[in-house]
Amino acid sequence: MPDLFRRAPAHTSTPWRSLLSVIACCAFVFASAPPMPAQPNNIVPAQIRYDEAGRTFRMDAADVSYIFGVNQSGELQTLYWGKRLRPADSIPEARAEPGSSAFDLPVNATPQEFTGWGGGLVVVPDLKITFPDGNRDLVLHYVSHAIRNNALTIVLKDISRGVFVELEYVIDPETGVLARSACVENRTHEPFTIEQAFAATWNLPGSADYQLRYLTGRWAGEWNLQQSALHPGKVVLESRRGSTGDEVNPWFAIERGSQPDQDVGDVWFGALGWSGSWQINIEEDWARRVRVTGGYTPFDFAYVLAPGQSLETPKFYGGYSSAGIGGASRLLHRFELDSIVPKAPHRRVRPVLYNSWEATGFDVNEANQEALAEKAASIGVERFVMDDGWFGERKDDHAGLGDWYVNPQKFPHGLRPLIDKVHSLGMDFGLWVEPEMVNPDGALYRKHPDWVLNFPGRPRTEGRHQLVLNLARDDVRAYIYGFLDKLLTENDIAFLKWDYNRNWSEPGWPAAPLDEQKEVYVKYVQNLYSILAELREKHPHVEIESCSGGGARVDLGILRLTDEVWPSDNTDPFDRLSIQDGFTYAYSPGLMMAWVTDSPNWMNDRSTSLEYRFLSSMQGGLGIGANLNKWTPDDFATAKKLVAEYKAIRATVQAGALYRLISPQGDSEYSVTESVARDGHEAVVFAFLHSSQQGRPYPRLYMRGLDPDAVYTIQVQVGKLADSSVQRASGDYWMHHGVGVSLRGDFQAAFFTLEREGTQ
Ligand code: DGJ
Repeated sequence: MPDLFRRAPAHTSTPWRSLLSVIACCAFVFASAPPMPAQPNNIVPAQIRYDEAGRTFRMDAADVSYIFGVNQSGELQTLYWGKRLRPADSIPEARAEPGSSAFDLPVNATPQEFTGWGGGLVVVPDLKITFPDGNRDLVLHYVSHAIRNNALTIVLKDISRGVFVELEYVIDPETGVLARSACVENRTHEPFTIEQAFAATWNLPGSADYQLRYLTGRWAGEWNLQQSALHPGKVVLESRRGSTGDEVNPWFAIERGSQPDQDVGDVWFGALGWSGSWQINIEEDWARRVRVTGGYTPFDFAYVLAPGQSLETPKFYGGYSSAGIGGASRLLHRFELDSIVPKAPHRRVRPVLYNSWEATGFDVNEANQEALAEKAASIGVERFVMDDGWFGERKDDHAGLGDWYVNPQKFPHGLRPLIDKVHSLGMDFGLWVEPEMVNPDGALYRKHPDWVLNFPGRPRTEGRHQLVLNLARDDVRAYIYGFLDKLLTENDIAFLKWDYNRNWSEPGWPAAPLDEQKEVYVKYVQNLYSILAELREKHPHVEIESCSGGGARVDLGILRLTDEVWPSDNTDPFDRLSIQDGFTYAYSPGLMMAWVTDSPNWMNDRSTSLEYRFLSSMQGGLGIGANLNKWTPDDFATAKKLVAEYKAIRATVQAGALYRLISPQGDSEYSVTESVARDGHEAVVFAFLHSSQQGRPYPRLYMRGLDPDAVYTIQVQVGKLADSSVQRASGDYWMHHGVGVSLRGDFQAAFFTLEREGTQ
């Protein structure tokens, strides 16, 4: 099993050993990481350097420099984070900042990389500990460092106690995205309680003119982009629900300037890789210094560390772009696809899938699924996924969860005949599961009522008639891994849609020792990750989608172990434009599944054409979720043509560079995306109109990201151009003269490509 929760290597436990490691580290003076193999696109390899004289660490990768040093007090002080500096640019040494007055201690004025709560700190700390003797003071100073390949580790230690913190910095050579985390180790002789553990503090350059963006939502209304000016005070983004959540996603972006532009300007961004409760604080002080901290939420948190034990925080990723918020998204997309997801950077394109949920609901059976499979195959679908309803006594959402046997009334011969049929039609087979849940009306719960999160003697609050299994327990972990492994071993399954449909309530773990019960927040997610990792290792061909009542479990932690996500249960193709747009601020379109469903759509009772629905869904991983039994021959013909066209451009849409030509945010009448292929050979444009008003023409579109000197030919797949007299022209022409699209009426859409021919 991959070691996802690697403990930090044992550090030296005595001061003299620590000193030796400092001396040993001096050998790293200006040591660079070994050169990376030749990179495409002239990527300059990452470099990590240590300047012994200034006790300064400098990391350079892609367009980013990140610099910090050890100041005269022994604190680790941020010196610079932003656009890549010249190699010869020298940075002033770290010097603790004096406070502005006797009331303002240097410890709060100095931008530190990682702080313990102690020594008069009043800003948000990264680490807060209560020791058994009642002491709660923690002051962390530099001890040693090491540089290996693209990773830098720094060891901090409390000024008197054996609390060691190993900070890890890994910089991605292609994007300059840094992954930061902390590992806290108890080298005292008694247990202590961690009450707050964050991964890192990110200090931004001083500015009084920052705009914050983050993503909020709810079921069927996820991924709303929020924007507000930063002022002195604190903004807290958080989930307390036990999982990532959709009320806020663990992502932020901060732009300098009051009128941020999509593709111009300085942007700092970050995202947490954690699928449990989390917190990100964006804190600005009176001097307009901005610091961002994040990790496990301290709310209801306590983790007891025995001597010799350690706790690792989630990773907190951070990046910088000088190409506006659009550039920040493109860096994140690339980082996710090339460094985060399984099989990165060589994962396959997302297959076109069919999903049964909106067609048959819980009422699945062998005959109706085979009938749908035949129709799906006829339009070019590559993966047939049977959703909820196939197991236990599942007739609706009152029963079945936890009882993972194939329902004998619905599938008298097991899943085999359906899977064989799907294969014979040239598709692979996927199945819905919701492993972490149990319905009280079911055999598993009757046998193991103690397996759910609960507080003894208190009600067990149900959500969607289900309770949350306590995955922190080893027996629950073994049960879940066991049934999934059996399912995948006995059946030829290529894909699991892994659902998770409620929040925690009564998060008790009565079977654990009293002082360890709150560790449920960490251990649950660790076990979830370890199950996913172990399944993937044993069944390497199986792909997994993360779904949580729509898009409530999307983060860079779950994405290390899953191949795609379901962003929202809302499949209204118009609503989807802004949902999908919001999603792409933090996550790649190549991770996002989008289904074509029935019209009128159940969400808003809105009617749209099949072409409009397809074009909306073709901006991500394409799926079909409609009831194909209701389709006309014309519908099948339209679908077949568009599925084929999608397959021709999907690599560009899923892995290319996304430009938001017109954002649907803020009740815009329009929405236009352009995706440019990684090798630049084509650009794909989808344009949408909500409703024509007062005869206004559709806005002219100015392409971005093309090679100005290359020649591109325009080809319109759906819709028509306002003027089709020019079909071949330079990148400069398409970017500056632009394209007129003729869209009029209500819920209209167009789709065209620009194919590069050669260089003028
Ligand atoms: C919630 C998911 O988001 C839906 O797509 C569907 O799978 C249902 N659960 C099934 O219960």
